[in-house]
Amino acid sequence: MVERTLSIIKPDAVERNLDIDIKSFFKKNGLKILKSKKVKISREEASEFYKVHQTKPFYNELCNYLSSGPIIVMILEGENAIAKNRQLMGATDPLKAEDGTLRKMYGISIDKNSVHGSDSMENSKIEIDFFFK
Ligand code: CDP
Ligand code: MG
Repeated sequence: MVERTLSIIKPDAVERNLDIDIKSFFKKNGLKILKSKKVKISREEASEFYKVHQTKPFYNELCNYLSSGPIIVMILEGENAIAKNRQLMGATDPLKAEDGTLRKMYGISIDKNSVHGSDSMENSKIEIDFFFK
């Protein structure tokens, strides 16, 4: 099924000018970039975006981090786009990510792991609306 998902190039990757490489990786792997924009979100917006994690010990740092610098938000579209994007990203911790995945190639650490991707159909809709409505 053709799906849409939200992808974010996080501050550590934008800072290192990895956006062109990451975008071409998505395109090469069958995901079309329907929309893309560079934004800087506030601490409040970041805490809203990541509210599913509000009880986690890393929540505070995560919100500080996502709002620390410019990010690139994109709508990706393609066959099984949600799972496909998660597969292309690799495991949350770059040390555990498989070879050839974005986080393995570019991630610095579990918090500075270069990319975000929606994890379900429901969340992809919520996250796309969050940035593009
Ligand atoms: O991004 P992903 O869906 O793979 O992981 P998550 O479990 O939904 O966590 C969201 C984000 O929180 C991760 O991408 C990490 O940047 C951060 N995180 C962290 O800093 N420390 C952890 N132990 C777990 C996640
Ligand atoms: Mg997640």
